[in-house]
Amino acid sequence: MPEIDLLDKYPKSKRPVDERASLIAAEHRVVARQFGKDFFDGDRLYGYGGFGYHPRFWTETVAQFKEHYGLTDDVSILDVGCAKGYMLHDFGLLMPDATLKGIDISEYAIENAIDDMKVNVEVADAMDLPFEDDSFDLVIAINSIHNLPLEDCKTSVRELQRVAKKHAFLTVDAWRNDEQEVRMKNWNLTGLTMMHVDDWEVLFAECGYTYDYFWFIP
Ligand SMILES: C[S@@+](CC[C@H](N)C(=O)[O-])C[C@H]1O[C@@H](n2cnc3c(N)ncnc32)[C@H](O)[C@@H]1O
Repeated sequence: MPEIDLLDKYPKSKRPVDERASLIAAEHRVVARQFGKDFFDGDRLYGYGGFGYHPRFWTETVAQFKEHYGLTDDVSILDVGCAKGYMLHDFGLLMPDATLKGIDISEYAIENAIDDMKVNVEVADAMDLPFEDDSFDLVIAINSIHNLPLEDCKTSVRELQRVAKKHAFLTVDAWRNDEQEVRMKNWNLTGLTMMHVDDWEVLFAECGYTYDYFWFIP
């Protein structure tokens, strides 16, 4: 089954959805969508409110990826929407011989990437990945491609499929019922393509995506 939660060990946000919804205005969304300093390291209304490294975020999750996909130490991994490279850093700690690459649309995030990943990350668009077909054993895109409008999002799904050789895993903003849809729309700051999980599955099939996926449901 390609639907699989490989992020169940990632710490859950404790930010109350209703409170955030009452504070966010259109202006915050406009600024957040630039994926600049304000989104990562500005006021919480624009995004993360400070995007720093802490091992509690990714350590267990990268171990879970390794176990689930049976990754060998010489594996190649691409993180699409890698931000400051924190997940890649933790992959590097776990598998020092792995080939690790990350791309992100944010010049700010790439310029401020964690030191040991600076040489591994670059600015690029998920719609046009600067890699050959079948380049990576594992391609990961966590909460990144739903930030593109619908047709561009489809292009990015095709790109993930194209550069993946063995495995891919993506997560996107989604809902399973009306209540979750309302919560998602209240919570959303940057997403431009969000839909019911069944509609995402139709989209994945339309794009020829055959790998794994899961949902971000606040
Ligand atoms: C919510 S953050 C997630 C970051 C990281 N994947 C994580 O889970 O911690 C979304 C990321 O997607 C990046 N992004 C947005 N649009 C993108 C695009 N078209 N191509 C590549 N990255 C993009 C943003 O700059 C940001 O770093």
